[in-house]
Amino acid sequence: MKKKITIAIDGYSSTGKSTIAKQLAKQLGYIYVDTGAMYRAVTLYAMQQKFIDATHFDVNSLIADLDNISLKFIYNAKKGFAEMYLNGKNVEQEIRGMEVSKLVSKIATISEVRKKLVAQQQLIGKGKGVVMDGRDIGTVVFKDAELKLFMTASPEKRAFRRYKELLERGDNVDYEEILKNVQYRDHIDSTRKDSPLTKAKDAIDFDNSNMRLEEQFERIYNLAMEIIAKK
Ligand code: DC
Repeated sequence: MKKKITIAIDGYSSTGKSTIAKQLAKQLGYIYVDTGAMYRAVTLYAMQQKFIDATHFDVNSLIADLDNISLKFIYNAKKGFAEMYLNGKNVEQEIRGMEVSKLVSKIATISEVRKKLVAQQQLIGKGKGVVMDGRDIGTVVFKDAELKLFMTASPEKRAFRRYKELLERGDNVDYEEILKNVQYRDHIDSTRKDSPLTKAKDAIDFDNSNMRLEEQFERIYNLAMEIIAKK
């Protein structure tokens, strides 16, 4: 039996990282971890506790309360992926909405939050056989991942993908607002002090602005298989 590897998929928001990562994990029989869901769940918690809203952010109260946040991924066989549970409650739907999207980048700047989530991510991926997507997987969480990808696409393409996704789930959405949110998050994610979004030196650039999903998947799957074959 071939040894399992670690696959790190980083990149800008709405580049389709999770779609590819999910498919790849399924095909390889690996665990898929959507680390963005973890930052989103902490954001939802901070909103529920009134630590954060559009105009204020009580960072210290959030930090003091971090030990009361329990995050778990539980596999949903019908959907074919693991859903996010915050303190025992399935929050998969709630964390995907615009309210959370607007605030999550702020939460992700807090080092104490990052420390907690990175430790949990490293624990989940410790045995390898994992496909993890996020912003700092190849640069911080698994610096020694055997395959690292850095996904990009134009902000307009990404905003349009997100717009379609939210429309499909029945949300009342505005394309311009989503485009602004995508650009805002790009800015915060790549300029924050702790673990900013950057391409790891040994990551492969992957611009999928004009690439169909099947083509993307095939290329990435082949890359993974080449590495696995050498193990
Ligand atoms: O992948 P996503 O759009 O669901 O991520 C939500 C936010 O979480 C994103 O704006 C940046 C942050 N994030 C992060 O800082 N580090 C990660 N590993 C994953 C997400």
